Amino acid sequence: MDADKTAMQPAVQPFGAWMRAVQTTMEQALSSFLPAAADAPQELHQAMRYAVLDGGKRVRPLLAFAAGELFAAGPQQLQRAAAAVEMIHAYSLVHDDMPCMDDDALRRGKPTVHIKFGQASALLAGDALQAQAFLVLTDGAGDAACKLAMVRLLAQASGSLGMCGGQAIDLASVGLNLSRQQLEQMHRLKTGALLRAAVLLGALSGKLLTVAEEQALDRFAAAVGLAFQVVDDILDATADSATLGKTAGKDAADNKPTYVSILGLEPSMVLAEQLRQDAHAALLPFGHNAQRLRELADLIVRRKA
Ligand code: IPE
Ligand code: IPE
Ligand code: MG
Ligand code: MG
Ligand code: MG
Repeated sequence: MDADKTAMQPAVQPFGAWMRAVQTTMEQALSSFLPAAADAPQELHQAMRYAVLDGGKRVRPLLAFAAGELFAAGPQQLQRAAAAVEMIHAYSLVHDDMPCMDDDALRRGKPTVHIKFGQASALLAGDALQAQAFLVLTDGAGDAACKLAMVRLLAQASGSLGMCGGQAIDLASVGLNLSRQQLEQMHRLKTGALLRAAVLLGALSGKLLTVAEEQALDRFAAAVGLAFQVVDDILDATADSATLGKTAGKDAADNKPTYVSILGLEPSMVLAEQLRQDAHAALLPFGHNAQRLRELADLIVRRKA
């Protein structure tokens, strides 16, 4: 590359600064896409805002933004796509923490929604967040064919063949010695499906994808989606509650089959690293432009919380 062209290249923002900028943008976007706390029914709206705002790593919005940047997505549609998947994620956490599921009292460093607002409000806040996600996704300007594809994608990722199905398998598996294949299927559904949706929704915020583009993104998302839950299992066994902002050691206490309980700690770490490399390999067709997605794969595997 000649000196003139080098001089004209825009400076690439360091990953940390880019991440914080997306997190700040999304905090404001999520706040504006949620009903105001003062609007009736106030308790429900307060519970929804408490579940979504001021906390969380925002990994799904970050994935959506990184994929969106690859396809020149406009900021408005990208924020809607990222907010929709984060609302579904927040709802899944509210319900995951309830006594009928994992019965957890701590989430994102705060009391869980049912502890703070009661079980009925937590149930309804989760339900309402799910509906709000689809409203946010379909509101605003944007190509109708892309929006329809996004709605279908998010519905599939959230439903009985996605996140909810994975949660059902998780609950039915307590105390069972799952095969490696069964464990992988559970993780792909309960966590991988929404992470895949985040990547594809971000990309679809830019344009309808070619088959080759979708396949490459799918391979990437499959690797980071599984890696994310493998690392979640590792951190549950190795980190402390203060660092995680949620109760550590809960999987073993509840007799849940996890990568750590079935493969062991060290092999789980090796697997996470292998999946990080698989994620990088899947991005080869996109070349340098996929830098943010590569950095996110690294973050997902090397995070400490
Ligand atoms: C936790 O997700 C639940 C899983 C799917 C493993 P995150 O680790 O992304 O939680 P937050 O959003 O940062 O709180
Ligand atoms: C939760 O998995 C996955 C979903 C909420 C869909 P976990 O039960 O392992 O999540 P944490 O560890 O409570 O965050
Ligand atoms: Mg759970
Ligand atoms: Mg849980
Ligand atoms: Mg966990």
